[in-house]
Amino acid sequence: MSEQTLDALARRIYAEFNAKPESRYIAAEFALIQLSRLVGRIKPRNVLEIGAGIGTITKLLLEHPNRPAEITASENHPVCLRELDANLKGIGTAGLKLIRNASELDMNMSFDLVIFDGSLNNERQFGIFREGTWCFVEGSRSQTVRELQLALVSRGLNLDYKTERPGGTKIRFLSARRVLGFRLPAFKVKPLKGCSIGQVVSAT
Ligand SMILES: C[S@@+](CC[C@H](N)C(=O)[O-])C[C@H]1O[C@@H](n2cnc3c(N)ncnc32)[C@H](O)[C@@H]1O
Repeated sequence: MSEQTLDALARRIYAEFNAKPESRYIAAEFALIQLSRLVGRIKPRNVLEIGAGIGTITKLLLEHPNRPAEITASENHPVCLRELDANLKGIGTAGLKLIRNASELDMNMSFDLVIFDGSLNNERQFGIFREGTWCFVEGSRSQTVRELQLALVSRGLNLDYKTERPGGTKIRFLSARRVLGFRLPAFKVKPLKGCSIGQVVSAT
């Protein structure tokens, strides 16, 4: 499938979800495009999505030309569960299993791709990562990546990953500071958030 087709799918899903109620925390368009390309490249059969939210990524997976045969999605927020149900109406959800909590994960399962747009509840669950597992992290979840790295290193594994960013910056305004009696505006210039993509490899 051409990159243009995979990008167009991601853009369409983003536009659709961005217009929905409760869309404040959805995955960014840039990340969806990268994920769509990754799924087209690695063609995962078994995917774990942590933090399904209102279903933006879930729908991308379900409508992808390389739709994974099995998708396990975790979500427990009541608002998201309601919206997720509504947003996936009318599309085939065969192979999709919804879990409320990552502790419901069958630790013997093997996933080709794990998507983080939320967090696991405890590090024991990092045990689902094996050599070869692909990992996609939406946004800048540096703590999640650090915790995962630590858990992997203790098992002789490592996450070989790369962070992609869309380019450009955004200004975040902080509360004003007082300097010599004057109230000065305070702000931070931050790069736009992107996503990280990696694969578990042997550390040796
Ligand atoms: C970044 S969001 C996940 C977004 C999801 N992957 C998507 O793109 O639709 C991470 C978590 O935030 C919480 N969340 C997201 N949207 C919410 C909302 N409108 N109200 C309350 N919690 C929300 C959910 O628990 C979700 O798992």
